[in-house]
Amino acid sequence: MFESALDNHLSALGLDAWLAELHHLLQQRLSPAFHGHFQAWQTALQQLPAVTPSSIDLDCAAVRVGQAADLDAAQAAALEQALRQLHPWRKGPFAIFGVHIDTEWRSDWKWDRLKAHIAPLTDRAVLDIGCGSGYHCWRMRGAGAGFVMGIDPTLLFVMQFAALQNYIRDPDVHVLPLGMEDLPPAMGCFDTVFSMGLLYHRREPQQHLLELKDCLRDGGELVLETLVIDERHGDVLEPDGRYAQMRNVWAIPSVPTLLTWLRQCGFRDARCVDVTVTSTAEQRRTDWMQFQSLSDYLDPAAPTKTVEGYPAPTRAVCIAHK
Ligand SMILES: C[S@@+](CC[C@H](N)C(=O)[O-])C[C@H]1O[C@@H](n2cnc3c(N)ncnc32)[C@H](O)[C@@H]1O
Repeated sequence: MFESALDNHLSALGLDAWLAELHHLLQQRLSPAFHGHFQAWQTALQQLPAVTPSSIDLDCAAVRVGQAADLDAAQAAALEQALRQLHPWRKGPFAIFGVHIDTEWRSDWKWDRLKAHIAPLTDRAVLDIGCGSGYHCWRMRGAGAGFVMGIDPTLLFVMQFAALQNYIRDPDVHVLPLGMEDLPPAMGCFDTVFSMGLLYHRREPQQHLLELKDCLRDGGELVLETLVIDERHGDVLEPDGRYAQMRNVWAIPSVPTLLTWLRQCGFRDARCVDVTVTSTAEQRRTDWMQFQSLSDYLDPAAPTKTVEGYPAPTRAVCIAHK
């Protein structure tokens, strides 16, 4: 049911020519040969109790599926055990039949910072690149999007999405195990494209912006969220080695530099709508993400700096049009 719904949406966007390759990629990646934990994750998904949620709410901070009263005690225990097999949960939160998945990130705070600034998503075709567990994909659908396609190459996050989709059963929301490089060139069809938390992981940030533009239809909207530095620290920080313990951070621009890059790449009306220093209340270790988190990456003597001595993580949201 979901595969044909995905095909129908992609056909309606003029992407028929991609379908055969896409199905080949999905078959390849959703398999034990692709990831050593795939079978364990599949087993966890199969252990989710078969229950129909009494209600679903995608338009609230903790994306909500059913309520505790929908389950008996054995089902509740099985549910929690299955969901814990999908640790670490980074992007959320979710409330699944009363189980509150307190994720590493309060991703709802990011959504709250940007939602008033974007074009209404009603009936729009939306692409969320690097969507993690799909938390924001659900929020986009809750805000009225007609079709949401999230992509993320990290298979565990796709499995976390599958746990939610197992109950929500929405044929208009999909999270696929793909990287940006797996998308066909010059799709030119999405009304809104989100790239959040991804630009700094790209070796060539301006190339990433051009690729994002290629995904949009003419007039479509880009929502770009990324790490920035204060312009007093220069135009762009290119970390020598790790940044906040992350190995793959290549470029952190100032906001004026980022807006210049957007204009140079041919975007119109580029503007910054929010700059926020990431707090240890927004990103932290929880029971559902028991590894290190932001407080471990900041200098304990000077928490405005990372352990490497760089400015602590600050994120901006920019909006621009094709
Ligand atoms: C910092 S997280 C951001 C998640 C989410 N967009 C948010 O803002 O909360 C970056 C995500 O990008 C994904 N990612 C890494 N390389 C990617 C690529 N080449 N194409 C698409 N996504 C990628 C990672 O797996 C990770 O889930």
